[in-house]
Parts: sequence; C-alpha cells; structure tokens
Amino acid sequence: MLPLFSVLVLVLGLLRLALRCRRRPRLPPGPSGKLLIGNLLDVPTKHEWLRYAEYARTYGTLSLLREVAYPRSAGDIVCLRVLGQTLIILSSENDIKELLATRGAIYSGRMRGAMVQSVGEGVLVLPLGRPFRAIRRIFSSLLGPLAIRRCSDVQAQAVIQCLRRLVDQQQDPVIALKRMIGGAVLQLAYGYEVKSDDDHFVQLAEKSAFAFLSALQPGWVVDTFPALMDLPSWLPFTGFKRKVELWRQDAEQGLRAPWDWVKSRLASGVATPSFAAELMDHKDEDAARMALRDIYGAGMDTTLTASLWLILALALHPDVQIRAQREIDAVTLGERLPTLDDRGSLPYIDAIVKEVMRWHPTVPLAVPHIVTEEDTYHGYRIPKGSIVIANVWSILHDPQKYPDPEMFRPERHLSHDVKVNPNPYTYAFGFGPRQCPGRNLADTTLYLLASSVLATCTVSSAVSSHNEILTPESLEYTSGTISRPAPFHCRMTPRSEQLRALLYDGFSD
Ligand code: HEM
Repeated sequence: MLPLFSVLVLVLGLLRLALRCRRRPRLPPGPSGKLLIGNLLDVPTKHEWLRYAEYARTYGTLSLLREVAYPRSAGDIVCLRVLGQTLIILSSENDIKELLATRGAIYSGRMRGAMVQSVGEGVLVLPLGRPFRAIRRIFSSLLGPLAIRRCSDVQAQAVIQCLRRLVDQQQDPVIALKRMIGGAVLQLAYGYEVKSDDDHFVQLAEKSAFAFLSALQPGWVVDTFPALMDLPSWLPFTGFKRKVELWRQDAEQGLRAPWDWVKSRLASGVATPSFAAELMDHKDEDAARMALRDIYGAGMDTTLTASLWLILALALHPDVQIRAQREIDAVTLGERLPTLDDRGSLPYIDAIVKEVMRWHPTVPLAVPHIVTEEDTYHGYRIPKGSIVIANVWSILHDPQKYPDPEMFRPERHLSHDVKVNPNPYTYAFGFGPRQCPGRNLADTTLYLLASSVLATCTVSSAVSSHNEILTPESLEYTSGTISRPAPFHCRMTPRSEQLRALLYDGFSD
C-alpha cells in the first residue's frame, strides 16, 4: 500500500511541477547558451543583420514549416540571453507590426544607460511620456507630409551646390553630401547659412551629435554599475567622468547656441524664416530646442548614408540611369531642373529612391526598442526590460516579398501586383510610436538628389579607396547601427554642355 501511495504522491508532484512550468511561458527559441555567459558569444559583431537572419531561419518558431513551404523565406522570433539581459530578434513583418506597432505602448522604451543620461536628454532616448509627445508633435508640425513641401526650395538649392562641387572637384562624395545635408538642416532649422565646411555652427552640431551618440554606445562600465558615477574624478579609471563633463557641455551648446542666435536676430529684426523663429514663443521651449538640435544629430549620418548608396547604385547601374534620364527629359525637355511638383510624373525616379532604401537599408536593424512591461506573445514570455531588435534587412531581402532581393531593380516598385514588392518605406524608418519623424525630410532630399543628378549628369567609374573597380558583387559596407558603403570615388559628368549650363545657371550661389 505504502509504495503505491508514494508513487501516487510522486506522480501528483510531477504533474504539479509540469503544470506550473506550463503556466510560466517559455522564452522564444534561440541558440543554446553557455554556463554563466549565456549567448554572449552568439551576439554578432559584424554585419549583425545577416547572422540574425540566419538565427531566424535556424531557430525561428515556424522555421521548419516555412523552410518547406518557402525555402529561404524570412524566419521568426528568436531569443538570446546575454549576462541577464534578454534580446528578442524579430524578423517577420507580422511579429514586428503586432509587437512594435499594435502593442507599441509597451514596446517603445529605449536603452537609457547612466552614461547617456548624464550627458543629457535627446529624442532618441526619451521614454514615452509628456516630453516625448511634445517633441513628436513639434516634429509632425514641421516635418509632416504637407509641411515638408515648404522645405524643398532650400533642399533643392543645397542639392545643386553639392552637384556643382561633385562635378568640379570629382572628390569623395562624403564631404559634398555632408555639406548639402548639414547646410539644408541649419538653414531650415535656424535660418543659418553655412559658408564653409568647418563652419562654427556645423562644428557645434557635429560635436553635440558626437557627444550624444558616443554616450549611447553600449559597453560603458557605468551603464552596468551606475554607482560608479558618484566616484570623485581624481580616482584612477574614472576617465568616463571627464568625458561626461565635456560631452554634457557639447550637448548643451548644441541646444542653446543656435537657438540663442535666432533669438538675438529676432530681437534686432534681422532674422530670416526658420523653424526656430516659428517656435520661439512655443509654450515648451525645452522641447522646441531639443527637436531642432536633434534634426541634425539624427538626420545627418542617416541621410548621408542613404545618399551615398544612391550615388553608388547609379554609378553601378548605367541601364538604370539611361531609363531615368529618358523619363526626366520627357518631363523637363532638358530645359529646366526637375522639382518636387514633378514627382508624380517621375515614377521611375520614385522607384529608384525606394529601391535604394531596400537594397542596402541604411539602418538595417532599426534602433532597438525596450519592453517596459512583461508580455506574452504566441505563448512565449517577453520579459520586462527585453531589448527588441527588428531585423529590417531580413524583411527587405525576403525573396517572397522581393524576388532576387540582392539585385538593384527599381522597376520592381512599378509593379501593380500588391502581393510582392511592398513599399520599403513601411520598414526602413522603424515602427510604432518611435517611427522616424524625419522620414519625409529624408525622402525629399533623396528624391531631389536623384532627380537633379540624373537630369544633368551621368555617374560612372566607381572605385574603392584602393582604386579597385567596384561592382555590385564586390561592395563592402560597415557594420553597426548605420551601414555605410566603404569609401569610394566616382565620376560625375554633365550629360551635355546645355545641361552643364543648366546646373550652373539654374540657381544662384
Ligand atoms: C534615410 C534617412 C533616415 C533613415 C533611414 C532613418 C531611420 C530611422 C530609424 C530606423 C529610426 C528608429 C525608429 C524606431 O525606433 O523604430 C529613426 C529614428 C529617428 N529619426 Fe530617422 N532616419 C532617417 C533620417 C532622419 C532625419 C532626416 C531626421 C530629422 C528629423 C531623423 C530623425 C529621427 C529621430 C529624431 C529619431 C528618434 C525617434 C524616436 O526615438 O522617437 N531621421 N530613424
């Protein structure tokens, strides 16, 4: 009798344990970790999106079914555990939309380490809340789809100056493109005209962005042990404190100096139109100053990178240039430069811009979001504090969505088949409440750059910094949040003397 009773107790105990385990959902699948360090060695450090896509295919919840039905299709949700931190990697559109957009209220936090918090606030790291909403409202009013149209004259002028420079000097396009983007941003935001590459306000904006983005990088020991921030700076190994002090000043200068400059120009009646002049009496001055400063910080490297991919894509695809030039010539008759109003008549140019955003997405893993409350998804546990990474590259290179994804093929966006080639903009600018507020500004810049380059010039002879001829297959690019092509040079040649004249006479300097 006794053994039977013991067996019964044991069975009941095991059942209870099994039930309890069932009640506490598992984490999503992923590579099995090692003792103590978990998946530390599984976190990729180079071209991260490629490895994450591989994980999704290997461990994704539906990977087996998907592989059978759709070989090489994008995978599903994957989890890595690193030193107590959970990383959730999303690779499918449905998961991303459901979690980052539909459940955006709890999936839109940001990593806010002690280092970045000591340097100062920025839109990129603000938690959802009143200040965040105030800044996002300012962005919508300045950079919404309709408001953006009034920016196009300033942008067009900056594009033409950049093109002249590229034609004249045949230099590494980075310098001219930086001036184009920075010049337009400072003109729009503060009515400030940049006169040289080492302009004072450009330097302030660069330093401020550098301070903030450096403090945001992972790996600061104070982010793991925030109490270290209270140590006196004279102690050894507290170099981070001196950096904080310097960077805090740079970030603060970026907030105040251009704003105060506009204020004094308004007071003396000589201010030119600008976002700052419009916002000077805004009820939340802190929000207004931060929004304007962060246009440069968040918009410079991203737009620069997308512009570099655009120029490179054109240089490597002469057939695309010929088709685009025909389309533009039919609209402008070679007698004027294309404008924003022509966009509706230039679908192929529009398709080129979309394809640039798809072919080599500028921010291939978007910007990580943080889960602010524990959640369950498809029976899996998503712990509070998890870092959620959306593998945008994986979607934009899903062969089911974009056949032959590695090919630069703008015409795919002219197809009327709604099942394939969805608009890459849906993914390339992030998701939910944190979706990029500068997407219209970036889009107009890219459209104006593409249409003006193609209206007047032919881009050719792309070579690496070692003078090796580049081909679509030989391209190298950087890892990290923003993925830029490796340094290259190319030739920008006016298509005819008449078009050269148009480039030089169309706009005044
Ligand atoms: C091709 C150019 C650009 C790309 C590809 C891009 C992409 C992105 C992405 C992926 C995010 C993260 C969204 C998320 O967390 O889900 C983001 C955030 C942001 N972008 Fe852009 N962006 C570009 C240009 C710009 C420009 C011109 C501005 C100027 C206003 C800008 C301002 C911002 C800001 C302020 C954020 C932070 C938003 C937040 O955290 O709430 N971006 N961008």
